[in-house]
Amino acid sequence: MLSDVVDRLACPHCGSALELEGSELGCERGHGFDVARQGYVSLLPGSGQAASGDSAEMVAARQLFLDAGHYDALVGAVAAEVVRTRERGPVECVLDVGAGTGHYLAAGLDAAPGAVGIAVDASKPAARRAAGAHPRIGSVLADVWQQLPVREGSVDVALTVFAPRGPSELRRVLTPHGALVVLTPTPRHLGELVDTLGLLRVDERKPERLADAMAGTFVRGRHGVVEQTMQLRHADVAALVGMGPSAWHLSTAARADQVAALPEVVAVTISVQVSVYHPAP
Ligand SMILES: C[S@@+](CC[C@H](N)C(=O)[O-])C[C@H]1O[C@@H](n2cnc3c(N)ncnc32)[C@H](O)[C@@H]1O
Ligand SMILES: [Zn+2]
Repeated sequence: MLSDVVDRLACPHCGSALELEGSELGCERGHGFDVARQGYVSLLPGSGQAASGDSAEMVAARQLFLDAGHYDALVGAVAAEVVRTRERGPVECVLDVGAGTGHYLAAGLDAAPGAVGIAVDASKPAARRAAGAHPRIGSVLADVWQQLPVREGSVDVALTVFAPRGPSELRRVLTPHGALVVLTPTPRHLGELVDTLGLLRVDERKPERLADAMAGTFVRGRHGVVEQTMQLRHADVAALVGMGPSAWHLSTAARADQVAALPEVVAVTISVQVSVYHPAP
């Protein structure tokens, strides 16, 4: 709930501490933010939604796919990194930027008893779902390309899973012993569907670009690739396509025809790089 995390949030206008009063978050300079009926708060400095947030259909497809357990190996990898961070120091707060439905953050919180979680996403439908994903999550609508509405040094583990990230802001909000856990697809990820359904291809240079973006701000620690084969039925494939960036590029009817033409069960590769970064000294 928001009340669990409010003391770690910051006013997007002036950076001051926020307090929860009734159904409003407010700062000492008089800026106020209404808590939505569904339990999240918008800390976007302007009005409305950031441009790049996922649609309600994409978020619903993502929830279906994740709840079916197809990405449990990735969820397990995230939880394992939370446990490793606890071996180095206390984990009292986990932040997930581009949190989507809050599925990974919920698993991270289960791996850190008593810790609170901040879910940040630019999509209202995502922020709504994340608010209900775990009792210790506070869900915030915000844009990761702007200043994060989170107080300096208040986060022990930050997650970014298939999501955009701004290194300097993540560095600012992490504690010195904190860890940033980044999951990015390798060019082999979903390869079978990239070929047959014409999904967007992962840039071969993505690992290099990630390393460049982090250099100077973070040092890379543990890293490895989670690779596995999923056996997907048509409904799973439809959800997987519907939740991803390729959903923007073809009409629903055209996509449904393509999926119907696939074998009843399709073997699809998961190949995801898991990298842990620590704040540079
Ligand atoms: C591919 S989804 C991943 C969601 C979640 N991490 C997961 O793996 O299930 C990317 C997420 O980033 C969010 N997003 C996109 N642009 C954003 C931005 N500028 N600020 C915050 N979130 C953003 C989208 O709304 C979406 O929920
Ligand atoms: Zn303020």
